[in-house]
Amino acid sequence: MAARADRHALYEQAVQGPEAEVGFIDRVYKKSYGRVPTLLREDFCGTSIAACEWVRRRRGNRAIGVDLDSQVLEWAEGHNIASLTADQRSRITLLNEDVLQVRPEPVQVITAMNFSYMTFKERSVLRSYFRQVREGLQPEGLFICDCYGGTEAQDTIEEDRACDGFTYIWEQADFNPVTNETLCHIHFTFPDGSKMKRAFTYDWRLWSIAEIREIAHEAGFSQSTVYWEGTDSDTDEGNGVFRPTTKGEVCAGWVSYIVFE
Ligand SMILES: C[S@@+](CC[C@H](N)C(=O)[O-])C[C@H]1O[C@@H](n2cnc3c(N)ncnc32)[C@H](O)[C@@H]1O
Repeated sequence: MAARADRHALYEQAVQGPEAEVGFIDRVYKKSYGRVPTLLREDFCGTSIAACEWVRRRRGNRAIGVDLDSQVLEWAEGHNIASLTADQRSRITLLNEDVLQVRPEPVQVITAMNFSYMTFKERSVLRSYFRQVREGLQPEGLFICDCYGGTEAQDTIEEDRACDGFTYIWEQADFNPVTNETLCHIHFTFPDGSKMKRAFTYDWRLWSIAEIREIAHEAGFSQSTVYWEGTDSDTDEGNGVFRPTTKGEVCAGWVSYIVFE
């Protein structure tokens, strides 16, 4: 089964939730500017699933996706873009470029999801990226990224989750407390015992919320809001509802959003 599986399709099924992501973008933009946005740039877009959901959501919506990897963009074209209508396809543009260099038309919202900016390990490089993002926004613009942490985030762990037809495994293979560098892998296993080992590898620096906010403010953003996930009282797990906060909770693992203006 592993030999026949498509790692991008498994990744999308296991970790992405484009409908909720687009709902969140609409909600926070409306809160800041009193209307829903129409022009989105999805940085580190990979399979571009959020950009595709964006153009599907409303007829006037347009999206720009940016990724350095031409192969994943080809996959996006052949799968997610191919499944759009001709009208939806005409409203999406994928750019095979470095987010540190790209200069498309200014947009209303830029997203950097699934912690992709953690690839930038030096403060000066992360600041350059945030400055590039700031300059890529219209005056009424928002930048939204996610981040993760918790007491287990600095540990070497492996955790699995059953998905439809396979198991998703997140491995934190190494963590260096001196530099906060972390090496993580995604593996998939299948009911017939076959495995897709290291389907994806991430060599990141685990940035804290405080650092990310400080660096983004140095790069020109004037306001930022942290959206913390609520807890489901039955399962004690995250409930998918993110609300603004200035105080998080101590827990083994959390994911939150930061919205910059
Ligand atoms: C963790 S994946 C994220 C995919 C998707 N955004 C998501 O939410 O799941 C990171 C993506 O960032 C891309 N990437 C890494 N460095 C980049 C850079 N400097 N400029 C543009 N894309 C980059 C990789 O090719 C990869 O597709």
